[in-house]
Amino acid sequence: MPPQSNQTIEAAYFARNPKSHALYQRALEGIPRGVTHDVRYLEPFPLYMEEASGSRKTTVDGQELIDYAMGHGALLFGHGRSEIVEAVAEQARRGTHYGAGHELEIAWSERIRALVPSIERVEFTASGTEATMLGMRIARAHTGRPRVMKFAGHFHGWHDYAVAGGRPPFDTSHYPGVPQQALDTVVVAWPDDIDFITHQLEQGDIAAVIVEPSGASWSAMPLSDDFLRQIRRLTEQTGTVLIFDEVISGFRWAPGGKQEACGVIPDMTALAKIVAGGLPGGAIGGRADIMGVLEFRDAAWNREKKIIHPGTFNASPLSAAAGVACLTLAEAPAVQAHAAEMAKRIRTGFNEVIVRQDIPGFVWGESSTFHIMLGQSCTNQRGDDLHLPEGVAPEVLRVGVSGRLGYALHLGMSLEGVALFQEGGMPSAAHTIEDVYRTIEAFDTTLRRMKTEGLFNEA
Ligand SMILES: Cc1ncc(COP(=O)(O)O)c(C=O)c1O
Repeated sequence: MPPQSNQTIEAAYFARNPKSHALYQRALEGIPRGVTHDVRYLEPFPLYMEEASGSRKTTVDGQELIDYAMGHGALLFGHGRSEIVEAVAEQARRGTHYGAGHELEIAWSERIRALVPSIERVEFTASGTEATMLGMRIARAHTGRPRVMKFAGHFHGWHDYAVAGGRPPFDTSHYPGVPQQALDTVVVAWPDDIDFITHQLEQGDIAAVIVEPSGASWSAMPLSDDFLRQIRRLTEQTGTVLIFDEVISGFRWAPGGKQEACGVIPDMTALAKIVAGGLPGGAIGGRADIMGVLEFRDAAWNREKKIIHPGTFNASPLSAAAGVACLTLAEAPAVQAHAAEMAKRIRTGFNEVIVRQDIPGFVWGESSTFHIMLGQSCTNQRGDDLHLPEGVAPEVLRVGVSGRLGYALHLGMSLEGVALFQEGGMPSAAHTIEDVYRTIEAFDTTLRRMKTEGLFNEA
């Protein structure tokens, strides 16, 4: 049923999506919280999809949406890019798992090393979470040191050593189920607290500093290149391994990731998402001497020094096929430039709408990302593109639009044919300028509707 203009956003959403609603009720019977990833949770219920192509995906209720989730950032080329689909289909016919090596895994490692030259050796994993977990273990084994430093708000997956400081108030408590002993091995620092960072690194027991070089949560909390240079210098001086978590920024900020874009070269790099062309997979790579702790050598070394790394789906043939096809396409800088241009136009267009409608809010981001805040202002909102919102607490930037405003924005945008991701999105090489115009119109209509419903009065 088409939405009626006198309905509230929520009532229209119920009317537009009866099949999604029914599927969610069914999911709740057997799947905790009804969704299979925390960020897919949405009130009153999430949308279910049945197909996708290019920049669009289609709900079970037959609505086509311009998609900005893009496989949580995995789909740099949009849905169903033919070269990737064909490579996967061909490999599926030849075999999905040999329980043995295959040439595509070597070709995949070669592609990665060609695009990211700081990666001299690469080890495959099944996800980004596994990539950062293994990266930390490698760094601990290489240095013989127990602790890892990470930054407030930075996300490195969900394993026990990654979660500390991941959500407000960004400390090491309130992570039920995670042993305190694991949390105690993680030092959470604020990027602007260089004295604390220096002091901690000088203790000599920190194996690695891990950082999202794009700034936390794909540039929601921006970081300066100067800061990256500072931690590069400090880690060099203290013999600490510097790990860039490029799970999202890899192959997106530039063909060689954020490290190519900023010229700061880490010792190790964690990859996932785009690296596997939209299929499950990840990788951790870096300096040959550090990665050497994975090698088999003599019996004494193997027993005492070699780290353990099995994994049934490491370098799965299907993921390798998709990864090779995707990275072959990703080496043309025009790909990243196009996606970034689409995001820039969205950031600019959305900020124009916010200023025109006189709503508290701002939209920011870098490369091919955009983040939305509503109900709170920044001091440098000029109705234009924005990278670094000023006068806003870092935790506000990290979280973005959320709660009731966040749900209403998601619901309202979907009614206008747009699917957001978390508090923003990531356009792909498949998004067109027409998609962008339609997206800005959708934002305009949604904010108007939210305003009419008085949602900003409560903010
Ligand atoms: C920067 C970063 N690191 C690690 C991860 C974890 O990757 P995965 O979801 O593949 O485990 C993510 C996932 O969103 C991420 O954004």
